[in-house]
Amino acid sequence: MFSALLLAWYDEHKRVLPFRGTKDPYRIWVSEIMLQQTRTETVGAYYTRFLNRFPDVFALAEAPEEDVLKCWEGLGYYSRARNLHKAAKAVAEQYGGVFPADLDLLRALPGVGDYTAAAVASIAFDLPAPAMDGNLTRVLSRFHGVREDVDIPAVKRRLADLGREDMPGSRCGDFNQALMDLGATVCTPGTPDCEACPLRPLCNAYREGDAETLPIKAAAKPPRDVVMAVALITCRGRIWMTQRKETLLKNLWVYHLTENDENRQDMEKGMKALGIQVSYKNELGNARHIFTHRVWNMTLYHYEAASAECKEGRFVTLKEMNALPIPTAMKAAKEQAVRLLTPDIVKADEALLPETAAAYSASWKASHAAHCSAEFLKRHSPEYMEAKLREHIAKRHDVFALRMTDKTVGALVIGKAENELVSLYVLPEYQGTGIGKAAAAFAVKTMEENRPMKVTVLTDNERAKKLYASFGFTRIAETRMLDVKQKVMECDLIRPPFAEEGEETK
Ligand code: ADE
Repeated sequence: MFSALLLAWYDEHKRVLPFRGTKDPYRIWVSEIMLQQTRTETVGAYYTRFLNRFPDVFALAEAPEEDVLKCWEGLGYYSRARNLHKAAKAVAEQYGGVFPADLDLLRALPGVGDYTAAAVASIAFDLPAPAMDGNLTRVLSRFHGVREDVDIPAVKRRLADLGREDMPGSRCGDFNQALMDLGATVCTPGTPDCEACPLRPLCNAYREGDAETLPIKAAAKPPRDVVMAVALITCRGRIWMTQRKETLLKNLWVYHLTENDENRQDMEKGMKALGIQVSYKNELGNARHIFTHRVWNMTLYHYEAASAECKEGRFVTLKEMNALPIPTAMKAAKEQAVRLLTPDIVKADEALLPETAAAYSASWKASHAAHCSAEFLKRHSPEYMEAKLREHIAKRHDVFALRMTDKTVGALVIGKAENELVSLYVLPEYQGTGIGKAAAAFAVKTMEENRPMKVTVLTDNERAKKLYASFGFTRIAETRMLDVKQKVMECDLIRPPFAEEGEETK
């Protein structure tokens, strides 16, 4: 009777969810692991993305753990992802990739508990196992009038036994999912909508009028407050990150974390122990992250390291950072890290001109050191370069400071009238951080699309040629001798105007 009423209701009212309508145990298992601690609305997009990336159990088993964590990024409870990966390996190796149609064998897989084993067994294999999640616990405790603490193991077992007895001979997966849907939409926590409930005629709590007070649960312990210092350690356009060794967030990438440090001392000792020489910059505000059993109350600090050497962890660029799996607990810290590592292209006004010239001088010398005479190099002092920049400004060229982490680390000169990227130099230690590319993209955007754009590079500067090639520049000719004695050649690169739509390119 119970199951007949319930399944008739389900046929009419079941929710349309992206992970439904499959009998593939791999897909069902992935969705049930995701749904363990995450809302159905959140799971949808992650589920689709995860299955596109890992379409079957072998794809998951063969992937590096870091890829699995990256795909899980933002879902939280990362031990689920690590166990999912381990279990996929077990299914691939022990069962030839075929999930066992057996409750106990499923239960033995890493990360699979009573709930998940029952959900997969019933939905994929129609086995009669009640999937005792919060919804089933609530609906069954109300329906059967169980008025004891449902977290007591004996009470839990009794509820599961009642669920098993209520199960139909077939459609076991639908039975479980019907109870989940009923619990999520009708028999909700707090005030249930009993008028809409198909089970009302047989429901004990409805009869007794105490559905709102069930299920009975001991008050949960409040999460423990933890003080946490987060240091963002930058060095030459890179930031220090490490992989967590602790159980909480294990193997995810985080910034420098120190528990219970309220005055920076332990944190600074910690950095020293890692062989990182730092200077303190400033405080970057506070952030809070609530885990199940603890709350991190974080204060964010910015430090700068003298060198990128360290005994543990590594300094990564913005692009590398974005490819790492980083937990949501680091959201505010990551935003600050992004800000610190994002290139900034600023018009060099009078105040910025000296440091732009200094960066121009140092980067110019570094890129010409291999070609030019010492005498020629020496001439390109910061003062000389400042004068050059002023000449550019007099010629109506636009001069920009290339800035990162509040420092000027390069210079960019654009000639609008000539449609020419006149000069682009980045300090060697900031090359590879994305700032040169950002400056080139900025220049290309500034110039006129429908006229040829020009840039001049050293003939043997493969890195620059590759960069400009990515923006559509091709080499036309070797033009000038930079230093006659050393026979250094420069060549011009041109980006032809884009053909108008429909027009033929000759
Ligand atoms: N929550 C967990 N698993 C679910 C499922 N299969 N359907 C609806 N809600 C769920």
